[in-house]
Amino acid sequence: MSAHDEQMTRTTPLQFVAAATVALLPPAIAIFLIVRLVMGIQAGHVDREDPAMSAKAIAARIKPVGEVKIVAGGIARVQKTGEEVFNAVCTGCHTAGAMGAPKFGNKANWAPRIAKGYPTLIKHALGGFNQMPARGGDPDLSDLEVERAIAYMANAAGAKFTPPEPKPAPAKKAVPGAK
Ligand code: HEC
Repeated sequence: MSAHDEQMTRTTPLQFVAAATVALLPPAIAIFLIVRLVMGIQAGHVDREDPAMSAKAIAARIKPVGEVKIVAGGIARVQKTGEEVFNAVCTGCHTAGAMGAPKFGNKANWAPRIAKGYPTLIKHALGGFNQMPARGGDPDLSDLEVERAIAYMANAAGAKFTPPEPKPAPAKKAVPGAK
């Protein structure tokens, strides 16, 4: 018996399996990696038929966090402060006293107005009063914004009006031009 034959007979089934496993491991890993790669490419592929990939669904996913909702009957948005409304709209007449408008900060001008009471001034500012246009001529102002602007102007002339708290439901918009 040659040394070579001896070597052959010493190979046990267990050794064969071990050798085969070691030999097959690299290709198995390679196949595994290729499969992973292909599946990865497929996962990255955008399926246009997928409802989750519809333009609407994507828009919903990427929409900004702070959303401004336009709802029927009114506009839900950040309500301006009385000072902001005054500076944007009311100042046009109430700073110089155009057309007999009570001047901002002028107690003599405002005392008889303040004496009418906050509810009456709100009614007149929302609906218009002589030369005073409804909502100061800006129909986009909410009730709350007008109420705040009145309080801002009247309080600057000695009143102590407290504008109402913002309501959860947006105030109804007045019909532009309505008195
Ligand atoms: C186009 C000019 C003009 C603008 C803009 C304007 N007002 Fe006036 N406002 C007047 C005039 C004029 C009067 C005086 C009316 C009168 O007494 O005959 C007046 C009066 C008022 C009065 C007193 C009403 C009363 O019953 O005595 C209030 C309150 C008032 N305005 C609020 C506002 C607010 C709030 C704004 C801004 C949102 C505003 N006004 C914007 C012209 C204006």
